[in-house]
Amino acid sequence: MSSSQSHPNVLTPHVLDFISHSPAQTLRIGQRLGEYLQAGDLILLSGDLGVGKTQLVKGIVQGLGSPDLVTSPSFVLVNQYTPDPRWSRMQIHHADLYRLADPSEILNIGLDELWNQQDICLIEWAEHAGAYLPDTHLSIAMRYLDETKRVLRFTPHGSRYEQLVDAFKVAAFG
Ligand SMILES: Nc1ncnc2c1ncn2[C@@H]1O[C@H](COP(=O)(O)OP(=O)(O)O)[C@@H](O)[C@H]1O
Ligand SMILES: [Mg+2]
Repeated sequence: MSSSQSHPNVLTPHVLDFISHSPAQTLRIGQRLGEYLQAGDLILLSGDLGVGKTQLVKGIVQGLGSPDLVTSPSFVLVNQYTPDPRWSRMQIHHADLYRLADPSEILNIGLDELWNQQDICLIEWAEHAGAYLPDTHLSIAMRYLDETKRVLRFTPHGSRYEQLVDAFKVAAFG
């Protein structure tokens, strides 16, 4: 048995941590990730208010080639964007569950129908949906370090997202 098998990283080989030093860097991380997304992908973003979830979504939507303006959907719950039609006809759904009073409400707003079709779903405050969200997804947990620094932890759930994180890791770190 090689000694590397007892290394803690081996237990979570696909987890990826980034430190972003600025809003611009978070945008770039999002852009790069967006370039790797495909129809049907689901990304769940968690972390406190003001940590940078919407900033990351702006980058992801740009990386998908959409010229649409990304705004925080905190009041409307779900925004829709359209990627560059030369590349794709899928929609991008951007939800914010901050105001969800009860996890079962996501069924009322039809969110379950959105992630069941071949579109891309980006969901802020996913922790407010409890067990209603699919097991298979990419989790991005953001944490505040200081005024301009954030930690982003990518945790894939399911083989599609393990592949996604691995490909993204190669692109980001060579
Ligand atoms: N490294 C960073 N990454 C992302 N946002 C940052 C960073 N440093 C400072 N900020 C600021 O934090 C705020 C994040 O806001 P937003 O993306 O709306 O957060 P959330 O959607 O998580 O509530 C913005 O004002 C942004 O300029
Ligand atoms: Mg937000």
